[in-house]
Amino acid sequence: MSAREIGPVLDFLGITRWREQRQGGERQDEWSPPTLPAAPPSKQSVSLPPGSVPDGVIAGLDWDPLAERVSGCERCPLCRTRTQTVFGSGSRHADWLFVGEAPGAEEDRQGLPFVGRAGQLLTSMIEAMGLERNGVFISNVLKCRPPGNRDPAPDEIKACLPYLDRQISLLKPKIVVVLGRIAAQSLLATEVPISRLRGQVRSYGPDGIPLVVTYHPAYLLRNPIAKRESWRDLRLALATFGGRA
Ligand code: URA
Repeated sequence: MSAREIGPVLDFLGITRWREQRQGGERQDEWSPPTLPAAPPSKQSVSLPPGSVPDGVIAGLDWDPLAERVSGCERCPLCRTRTQTVFGSGSRHADWLFVGEAPGAEEDRQGLPFVGRAGQLLTSMIEAMGLERNGVFISNVLKCRPPGNRDPAPDEIKACLPYLDRQISLLKPKIVVVLGRIAAQSLLATEVPISRLRGQVRSYGPDGIPLVVTYHPAYLLRNPIAKRESWRDLRLALATFGGRA
């Protein structure tokens, strides 16, 4: 790896680059891991009304009509508490798809995915991989913010997944990187813990799109030590894609 390539990796891992400290003419090199606190998510859940738009309709929509359906969606009660929906962002021709859980407060305000603190870390993960944020596509399992950033309820996931499924069939990514337990279990339709979902290439859908699971950036903000394992996952994704892991 060249010096130019290693910089973004060190930034993601939170390793402060070599710093000159002149003490009595001596030069000292040091690095320091960051510690970033975050609140745990609430466990409150909601009960859901029946869906209003059939899954079969969603499965036939092109990008713009799909985005329109999402913005007016009333398939679950989150439509009553959201400021706006968060469809996803990036290139509709991307080879890489990154999938998170659900919008947070900042995403709900801006209508864009991963624009808060976790989003800054996701950008740094993407750049550490030698990719550009606007060259990939970023989406979430849920298109609306669960109030108070609680975990998505199973019925909310069920109501919203057809949108992500359709985004994936339109995008036809060469690889999917899934961020965190909830997104991984939702996309893979399993209750297997994330510890067993990570570390191996999985596959998504009838076309067997390779899928790699890693930790959610919000988890990495709370547990920066896990960034090393996450970097291993991202290298696995790069190797799978045919990059330079
Ligand atoms: N966390 C997510 O899972 N998605 C976002 O868009 C923001 C934070």
